[in-house]
Amino acid sequence: MELDAGVATERAVVPQQEMSQDRSSVPGMKLAVEAQGLVKQYRGRSGTVDAVRGVGLAVAAGEVFGFLGPNGAGKSTTVRMLTTLMSITSGTARVAGVDVMAEPDAVRRRIGVALQEAGLDPRQTGRELLVLQARLFGSSSGQASAKAQELLELVDLVDAADRRIKGYSGGMKRRLDLASALVHEPEVLFLDEPTTGLDPASRLTVWDEVRRINARGTTVFLTTQYLEEADQLCNRIAIIDGGRIVREGTPGQLKGDLQRRRATAPPPTLEEVFLDATGRTRERVAGDVKGVSE
Ligand SMILES: Nc1ncnc2c1ncn2[C@@H]1O[C@H](COP(=O)(O)OP(=O)(O)O)[C@@H](O)[C@H]1O
Ligand SMILES: [Mg+2]
Repeated sequence: MELDAGVATERAVVPQQEMSQDRSSVPGMKLAVEAQGLVKQYRGRSGTVDAVRGVGLAVAAGEVFGFLGPNGAGKSTTVRMLTTLMSITSGTARVAGVDVMAEPDAVRRRIGVALQEAGLDPRQTGRELLVLQARLFGSSSGQASAKAQELLELVDLVDAADRRIKGYSGGMKRRLDLASALVHEPEVLFLDEPTTGLDPASRLTVWDEVRRINARGTTVFLTTQYLEEADQLCNRIAIIDGGRIVREGTPGQLKGDLQRRRATAPPPTLEEVFLDATGRTRERVAGDVKGVSE
């Protein structure tokens, strides 16, 4: 299925008024990610950092959900808690229907994770990496070869498959990292800033891969600092600032809400929604959260 921005907006499922309610009780909907009152405090010698201050989330199965916020907002911390990589200070989270604190191993089997810093061995080829990953997850060597080929096709790396990773561009490494997060066919894929640092063309290619992965049935939870990325790719977004969710809805709903409040024409952009939500100015946004066409 091809998704364009218009279709993506139409597919959104959770009405915004659910925001302050008990997220586990949205009727008739299978949730891929749900969290209530999620808190993370980092305690160190220099004091306590309240990185995440009571985040609630309800991501429906099948969505591309965007977690948008400036540097330091708490995006990576939230992702690390949801993916069992970091302890939860308080609150609860379920991913793919499984309680993260009670059954972390079961959660790990159901998720794929591509973090901000990809850990790829530069001496391997792309194909070798994927075959190894598939073997580690219990595939036979025949199955592993077939899986590697399928994923190389999915992320458009067939031509580069047998070259060493050290010769790959930043965009190719990001796409290989995406493929390696999919080896065990996860229900939910977490991507932490998958396009940060990529040139505009590579960014568009990663967007295509994300759409294709989602069209195969995988729920995608994606953090980004790029407003246009969230607008283009995500059915629904939450804006996080200072460890708290300050807006949540489809891109269309968020723009519509602001337009009704301000009664302005033309309709606001997602950038204006972001500025309104976070109290930032355009100058601060320029060094903080960006459009993609810079
Ligand atoms: N390991 C850590 N120890 C202490 N503070 C941290 C640690 N990791 C992140 N922080 C702080 O927690 C806040 C949220 O960080 P993070 O989740 O990385 O934000 P984002 O991914 O949105 O940029 C920031 O203030 C950051 O400085
Ligand atoms: Mg981060």
